[in-house]
Amino acid sequence: MADFFLPKNSKVVAGRHHLAPEGARRVKTFRIYRWDPEVGGNPRLDSYDIDLDQCAPMVLDALIKIKNEIDTTLTFRRSCREGVCGSCAMNIDGTNTLACLKYTDDVKSDVKIYPLPHLPVIKDLVPDIGAIFDQYRSIKPWLQNDTPPPTDSERPQSVEERAKLDGLWECILCFCCSTACPSYWWNPDKYLGPAVLLQAYRWLADSRDTKTEERLDQFNDAFKVYRCHTIMNCTRTCPKSLNPAQAIGEIKKKLVVRV
Ligand code: SF4
Ligand code: SF4
Ligand code: FES
Repeated sequence: MADFFLPKNSKVVAGRHHLAPEGARRVKTFRIYRWDPEVGGNPRLDSYDIDLDQCAPMVLDALIKIKNEIDTTLTFRRSCREGVCGSCAMNIDGTNTLACLKYTDDVKSDVKIYPLPHLPVIKDLVPDIGAIFDQYRSIKPWLQNDTPPPTDSERPQSVEERAKLDGLWECILCFCCSTACPSYWWNPDKYLGPAVLLQAYRWLADSRDTKTEERLDQFNDAFKVYRCHTIMNCTRTCPKSLNPAQAIGEIKKKLVVRV
């Protein structure tokens, strides 16, 4: 039987508990993963009691309140606060999602917040997404067409051709899907994962792009696409209600058709 060992210092230990201010009436406890590379050691779970009557409704609002008013050392990414930049992706209540789209009231017990799983942690809730972006670059996520565009307009596309991009262009590269995918957990260096593959299909589906064959050539191995086993975690977790598993299926269909 195989033996599995957790990496040294991977056990999350109990951290500090910041009590609610006196007089708080609607208290919710946020339990947040903390790890500081300058301190090292085991990660810990700090707890913060927040009076929801003094806080806006989203989990991101609570994180900002904690950082502003209780603990300035708490580190997380955020930018748009409206679900379009993808930077506040994290694991909340056991699910990868966007903190700015997650209502605190939708979490029935304490709100447990961890960084996106199976990525190296830079600090607290900030994972290292450099390797995923390298994979994203590898699929050349831009329009490729060797013919010159019209001089007086953009490259034309019919309404029907444009409609084929719906459900693809909305991806905000939050990587909730890739970090929820067991196949990606086991082969993050060889399998491209659902986010990058949805983006790859976005260019395969674009009528203006003429590099279909070259794009498909790059998937001609056992890992980049074929590690997807249709487990569907990606589609279940996508906070933008997209369907990366379907996009992967479409890539596989294109690969089969040309064999
Ligand atoms: S459907 Fe494919 S990409 Fe999505 S979670 Fe499952 S294995 Fe991963
Ligand atoms: S498909 Fe959804 S979960 Fe995946 S990166 Fe795009 S928006 Fe995020
Ligand atoms: S802050 Fe931009 S998606 Fe949440």
